[in-house]
Amino acid sequence: MSDTIMRARAEQAYQTELTQLVEADSGPRPAGWQLSAAAVKRFICGDAKLGIKRKYYGDDALVERAIVSIMGNNGLMMVGEPGTAKSMLSELLAAAISGTSELLIQGTAGTTEEQIKYSWNFAMLLANGPSLEALLKSPVYQAMEQGKLVRIEEITRCPQEIQDVLISLMSEKTLTIPELGIAIQAKPGFNIIATANLLDRGVNEMSSALKRRFNFETVPVLNDVALERELILNQVNARFADAAEKPQLDEELVQLLVQVFHDLRHNLGAQALDATLSTAEAVNIVHSCALHSLYWQTPMSAEQLAQQMHGTLIKDKADDVKKLAHYLDAVVRERKEWRAFFNAGKALWMK
Ligand SMILES: Nc1ncnc2c1ncn2[C@@H]1O[C@H](COP(=O)(O)OP(=O)(O)O)[C@@H](O)[C@H]1O
Ligand SMILES: [Mg+2]
Repeated sequence: MSDTIMRARAEQAYQTELTQLVEADSGPRPAGWQLSAAAVKRFICGDAKLGIKRKYYGDDALVERAIVSIMGNNGLMMVGEPGTAKSMLSELLAAAISGTSELLIQGTAGTTEEQIKYSWNFAMLLANGPSLEALLKSPVYQAMEQGKLVRIEEITRCPQEIQDVLISLMSEKTLTIPELGIAIQAKPGFNIIATANLLDRGVNEMSSALKRRFNFETVPVLNDVALERELILNQVNARFADAAEKPQLDEELVQLLVQVFHDLRHNLGAQALDATLSTAEAVNIVHSCALHSLYWQTPMSAEQLAQQMHGTLIKDKADDVKKLAHYLDAVVRERKEWRAFFNAGKALWMK
């Protein structure tokens, strides 16, 4: 790729690793898969011997179960709070198993049956009537035809009758096109990985018929301070991998941020914040601090950290300011080595 792009898909970003894994892979491959199940796990959880980087930090057994689910007849449904790496995991799984993570439907209240099955090029349809040439294939259609994985993000945001279009697709593994009198039968390797945020649940509660077609995995919030710190440092460094100038990350400040998130998630010294305190937010805060430090040519500081926290977390939630003030007063004040952060937070939240 000579042209620069803003964000590479997983199979592009990790092309070298994937090629390496294919070459070293001697394990049995499920029909339609590019890699053996063991190699897929190595791609996601890392392998020191092959020099494969860890990408998902957390329970390796969860990754194993997810891989096994995809081999079976059922789809894989990953549920959890926002920012727990559900989308990231589904992209990595699709890239490793099918060689592409491109087949994707983003679920919204406006998702239609056509977007899940197929639609028509209307000019051609009007000119010549229905034909294969006039057919516009959905990502699900393409995945069935090519024996690949398709991802459906935020499935619970789709209206239930649209979600339920998947039921017969998943049980029959067939998509019929009555207009042409044909049916597409899925090739081995086809399956669906769906994600849903628990906070959205209930908006359009899934039907039990559809639930039965999926194996559910709950992706938890990381609860390990050391692991989360390592994850943040790795991911922020990775975001500067191709940059000409690289920031100097302050590991102690990252440690402080992780501890603050940990405290707030466990309601230490404050009632639960309305803000999402996921690892994704923590990564973004450190990334912003790193950008500030790089372009203003100053070291990362507790002040910047507090300001970026404010911008990322508070948004329009005035109540959260009071809660943060409470946390500062009850917890941060006592930690003498956090003085700079206390003062910065005080200026922002204890007015
Ligand atoms: N356990 C984790 N391991 C690795 N990265 C994580 C983890 N939890 C969160 N992240 C980071 O958070 C980002 C956002 O996650 P995303 O997949 O969009 O979350 P979700 O789909 O669950 O809302 C990921 O790209 C990754 O940078
Ligand atoms: Mg997501």
